[in-house]
Amino acid sequence: MSHSVPNPAPPLGELAARVERVTKSYGTGDAEVRALDDVTVGIPKGRFTAVMGPSGSGKSTLMHCMAGLDSVTAGQVFVGDVELTRLDDKRLTRLRRDRIGFIFQAFNLVPTLTALENITLPLDIAGRKADQAWLDTVIDTVGLRPRLKHRPSELSGGQQQRVACARALASRPGIIFADEPTGNLDSRSGAEVLGFLQSSVRDMGQTIVMVTHDPGAAAYADEVVFLQDGRIVDTMTAPTSEKVLERMKGFDLPKVVSE
Ligand SMILES: Nc1ncnc2c1ncn2[C@@H]1O[C@H](COP(=O)(O)OP(=O)(O)OP(=O)(O)O)[C@@H](O)[C@H]1O
Ligand SMILES: [Mg+2]
Repeated sequence: MSHSVPNPAPPLGELAARVERVTKSYGTGDAEVRALDDVTVGIPKGRFTAVMGPSGSGKSTLMHCMAGLDSVTAGQVFVGDVELTRLDDKRLTRLRRDRIGFIFQAFNLVPTLTALENITLPLDIAGRKADQAWLDTVIDTVGLRPRLKHRPSELSGGQQQRVACARALASRPGIIFADEPTGNLDSRSGAEVLGFLQSSVRDMGQTIVMVTHDPGAAAYADEVVFLQDGRIVDTMTAPTSEKVLERMKGFDLPKVVSE
């Protein structure tokens, strides 16, 4: 059966994670960029949430702050009932290891390990044994079985991304953050990965938050959160690609920076 990860029920009903009035600034004075501007949002447990918005709107920053990979300038971040913004480095590292999965484009695989070793690395580090049946399902779904013994440098970009997907799913973490997980995949493998992410939510109760630019990918989600200029400007439930595309058209073109 599934691994029993201690995952105390969050006090706030059904939220797997939330941010409360979070601001994230880079630089100071005239050079200050407010990547997140007083953002409050909750990620429902057991749901597939997509985050969309124009380039530079703060999507990756939101994911990094929620996952405890980056500090916030102001506000609070919670995963389950634990406030990340209060944890010391050691506890934060442990919480990330035990409760959070990542599928980030820039999140490199370990070059000296094989695909399979990369997939099971978080479990190995945590001293947990892989659930072999689940691992097999994950590997077959992302289509990596023939490439398991290869190192990342011997895999295509899309294959490496599938390894990252499999790695995040292998330990069945409380929440998975994915930043454009299918951005480098052809449409067929992209659809397979998205279908798999969706079924891990529907059938296994996995919680996933995914940044995407693709209305077709967002349509796999249960809910879409729209960001613009570091703020949440809209949400949509039961998205379809048509509805999402229509909403995206409503966004301003990137702001022209006056000289
Ligand atoms: N390390 C950093 N230092 C300075 N500014 C940063 C840094 N990281 C991000 N920013 C700025 O913060 C803003 C939000 O960036 P972010 O990466 O979150 O955008 P995004 O919505 O993920 O965009 P994209 O769709 O292009 O990936 C942008 O204006 C960006 O230039
Ligand atoms: Mg980004």
